[in-house]
Amino acid sequence: MIIPTVSSLLRKIAAPPIPAAREWARGYTGAAGPMIDLTQAVPGYPAHPELLNRLAIAAGDAAFARYGDIAGDMALREALAADMARIYGASIVAADVAITAGCNLAFTMAMTALAGPGSNVLLPAPWYFNHQMACAMLGVTPRALPCGAEAGFVPDPELAATLIDAGTRAIVLVTPNNPTGAIYPPEIIARFARLCRDRGLFLVLDETYRDFLPEADRPHDLFADPAWRDNVVQLYSFSKSYCIPGHRLGAMAAGPAVMGELAKVLDTFQICPPRAGQAVLSWAIDGLRDWRDGNRDLMAGRAAMCRAALEQLPGWRIDALGAYFAYVRLPDDAPDANLVAQRLAGECGLACLPGPFFGPDQDRHLRLAFANVEASVIASIPDRLGLLPG
Ligand SMILES: Cc1ncc(COP(=O)(O)O)c(C=O)c1O
Repeated sequence: MIIPTVSSLLRKIAAPPIPAAREWARGYTGAAGPMIDLTQAVPGYPAHPELLNRLAIAAGDAAFARYGDIAGDMALREALAADMARIYGASIVAADVAITAGCNLAFTMAMTALAGPGSNVLLPAPWYFNHQMACAMLGVTPRALPCGAEAGFVPDPELAATLIDAGTRAIVLVTPNNPTGAIYPPEIIARFARLCRDRGLFLVLDETYRDFLPEADRPHDLFADPAWRDNVVQLYSFSKSYCIPGHRLGAMAAGPAVMGELAKVLDTFQICPPRAGQAVLSWAIDGLRDWRDGNRDLMAGRAAMCRAALEQLPGWRIDALGAYFAYVRLPDDAPDANLVAQRLAGECGLACLPGPFFGPDQDRHLRLAFANVEASVIASIPDRLGLLPG
């Protein structure tokens, strides 16, 4: 018997990071108090009860058990386009957007459509590990665009220009960023858009955490120029804003030429996005606006509390902090981040992800996903970090 092996592309990719980090916590005795899990970016509060009621009704409706439109149901596409038009102050219509079974799938489908085996895309590093994994699985090389603490982990368009070669197909930006929390200024995003336009590249913008930016701040002005449709692909997630990560719903915006080709990918990868959730979101976009505004304030409060708590801790440095994450630098005398994260989980009862999960040269950093926990728990983070054996 000859036992087959899985794809050689897949075998080179590291195991999923979050279960690996949670495994380190298994030996924790509870000595320092209940386990604090800061590994995963999930909103630390439940979905709105009215949304859950409506979901239950829609899930019990035979109409939503059928396949739907490949690019999503029109009611949700229209509601999302109207919401985007309001947020970005631009003309965006239902034809510009497609609904996807989550933003991770939106990214994978975008890469399938825009890049191809043997090509490369620039990913600001530290990167969101699933972006690196998706590219590597598709045979697309994720090329690191290093971002430093001194620039607040905001990528530099001039440095990006030097990394582009004949095989480059796209530049990917995530703002607000995972893992650092950095919020990219609109003028930096505009410079990346110009660079992509000049060099014939796609700009892929993952705005999963957009709804946690201050209401008054427009995330960027890209959509004001109708030419965005030539080379910008914007990605969004309903997981965080509506607290429904388990219902797998996200979205992508692109112009007609890209959308025309994307239809083949959407059909193959998802056939249609989940239907019951779509039906409910087409109500929730307007219906839960006040609730979302309240959550934005709650998250801003958690971010402020996290900053104040970490600032008390001698030797540690907050290198970036925003939306859902703090990216902190270890004290100089601490061991490397992998070992620190293992000890924090196993001995101090605090689970988080070490920098090396997010790309090269990150072994002095930890990502703390503080959105998961309440203010009282955030206040106790310094005590746990302070327990770290030398
Ligand atoms: C930047 C980014 N994109 C996408 C996702 C995944 O979103 P979804 O649940 O819609 O697949 C996450 C989740 O952590 C994320 O941080």
